[in-house]
Amino acid sequence: MTDVPRREVRAHRPAGAPPSAGGPLAYGGDYNPEQWSRDVWREDLRLMGEAGVTMVTVGVFSWALLEPVPGRYELDWLAEVLDGLHGARIAVDLATGTASPPPWFSRAHPETLPMTEDGGRLWPGGRQAWCPSSPVYRKAATALATALARRFGDHPALALWHVGNEYGCHNAHCYCDVSAAAFRDWLRLRHGDLDALNEAWGTAFWSQRYTAWEEILPPRAAPAFRNPTQRLDFRRFSSDELLACYIAERDALRAITPQVPITTNFMVQPFARDIDYWRWAGEVDLVTNDHYMDASDPDAHIELALSADVVRGLAGGAPWLLMEHATSAVNWQPRNIAKQPGELLRNSLASVARGSDGAMFFQWRASRAGAEKFHSALVSHAGTDTKVWRDVVDLGAALRRLAPVRGTRVPAEVALIFDWQSWWVLEAQARPSVDVAYLDQVHALYRALWHAGIAVDVVPPEADLTGQRVVVVPALHMVSDAAATRLHDFVAAGGTALITFLSGIVDPNDHIRLGGYPGAFRDLLGIWVEEFFPLRANQTVHLDDGATACVWTELLHLRGAQAVASYRDGPLPGVPAVTRHAFGDGAGWYLATRLDDRGTQRVVQRVLADAGVSSPTAVPRGVEVVRRVGDDAAYVFVINHTDAAVDIPARGMELLRGTQLDDALVVPAGEVAVIRESG
Ligand code: GAL
Repeated sequence: MTDVPRREVRAHRPAGAPPSAGGPLAYGGDYNPEQWSRDVWREDLRLMGEAGVTMVTVGVFSWALLEPVPGRYELDWLAEVLDGLHGARIAVDLATGTASPPPWFSRAHPETLPMTEDGGRLWPGGRQAWCPSSPVYRKAATALATALARRFGDHPALALWHVGNEYGCHNAHCYCDVSAAAFRDWLRLRHGDLDALNEAWGTAFWSQRYTAWEEILPPRAAPAFRNPTQRLDFRRFSSDELLACYIAERDALRAITPQVPITTNFMVQPFARDIDYWRWAGEVDLVTNDHYMDASDPDAHIELALSADVVRGLAGGAPWLLMEHATSAVNWQPRNIAKQPGELLRNSLASVARGSDGAMFFQWRASRAGAEKFHSALVSHAGTDTKVWRDVVDLGAALRRLAPVRGTRVPAEVALIFDWQSWWVLEAQARPSVDVAYLDQVHALYRALWHAGIAVDVVPPEADLTGQRVVVVPALHMVSDAAATRLHDFVAAGGTALITFLSGIVDPNDHIRLGGYPGAFRDLLGIWVEEFFPLRANQTVHLDDGATACVWTELLHLRGAQAVASYRDGPLPGVPAVTRHAFGDGAGWYLATRLDDRGTQRVVQRVLADAGVSSPTAVPRGVEVVRRVGDDAAYVFVINHTDAAVDIPARGMELLRGTQLDDALVVPAGEVAVIRESG
């Protein structure tokens, strides 16, 4: 039995939780016993014991069984499941089951089905077929959550509430009339009156001026480019509507079980961009995340590190929990690549290294039917004489040995500003180049920091930057005055900022900041840009320091900054591409193009050196080193992503193998070591 890490002190502790060092790390996954007979349930408990499972998530898609007819709740089967788990000393993350209403629901309330931007309805038959603004859905979902809380609020296995599931995974935007009315209410709150809305949306353009609220619609499919601020506000509204669904259930649970922490699983991963999680993070007691690797990405392990850092940022630096990942292949990518031996341990422990107090999966037992039957699980179709099961048992043992890291934190001196809303506007319709992609720029800078072995705190645009030495700002296209002021103050006080092209261009209404680019950051960077010169598809240009660049150039003038590197060719020979500006006691660096990886790494190294930041452990390329630090000890995770053994200077106890180290450690190819540092 385990309890879970969380952000506030919780009185409730599941009975039987071991008193050791704050308890074990969470290990387990989505458990869907309704797909199996009772003899399989018994087998499940036995195997969970063998694997060292400490927590499972139950009931995520159980609404149809929990409420087989409207208003009649049948919860006895779930009580049996919870009792069994409690008997096996396994804690329960109990889902409210509201991610997918049963078929009777959409038949009775067809108006709750989501509508696409061209007016088509999405039908039931998959999952999450509901409109986020539907009061009918919210009422039914909250009623089910309430019934579960009344029945199971005191159950000794209950460790955590799991509201809904991956809000917005399939229904992030609904364009129906109910949504339209809710959108108008949201806009009234945001803008106050129609004049303010007309101003914010720039409706003087293309004859779009509104004279009555009823004229305003969601940005449905239109013959030409749609109003960009209308679309931006609709994205904000849609994220907020889903959040309101979560809050409705959360508050119902909290009223009955104030002692039980509440979460919903976020989707910080390359495939999900529709939710502004900075607005959600403060609403959960424990930040939890689902993460799946992109099998087509050769640097997927670096993307994993970035996602984990984003999630830790959402948790305000506190421990969080990896709620779902995969033991091997998923089933929803074009080619679902199985994990190599050792990869599962590397992936899981990479998340633990970056602050997750456990490793959970989708799902416990691979389904024999349904849309996800080819998705990997802890127990695969082939059973337990398998690579996956051996890896699962090994991971359980590793997590047991790592129990002392629970509750520790990852210190960092470098921050990266991440902003969902800039992502949205940067990739909106009718922008200067389709080749500019938000995540591409985020990844380029993050990759350089990862290779430099630098820990990164991911922060929102208006974050307090005190305590950081370097802030990297990839493509912060939309910036508020408050965020711009924070960055100016940070640099003036001695900080170092690295800002990339297309940052600072628009205000929060997506209006251009006039007077030359990069609008909000001209003074800080000591430059001004008179015109963008994006490159043609696949065109590259060269810099006078030997780097190559693609995608973007711009006609930049120095106004106090110094050129660090300039274009040798392309549309703007001789024009600066990388600049540094001494500003107050600090420095503002600007990267005006998309450098190749080597060039980006060189710039990042220079910026770090400028700020006096270096990695605490020098390691060969491809080896990831992350520190979690607690009150009494530091834990150094060494993850060898290369195919050669590496020698690391190390003193202390290696926890996974139980060996005492006096000066060095060899980490074999593809393996992980965790050193509890002495001294
Ligand atoms: C998540 C979801 C799970 C399962 C998993 C498959 O999006 O929460 O229910 O579908 O993906 O990778």
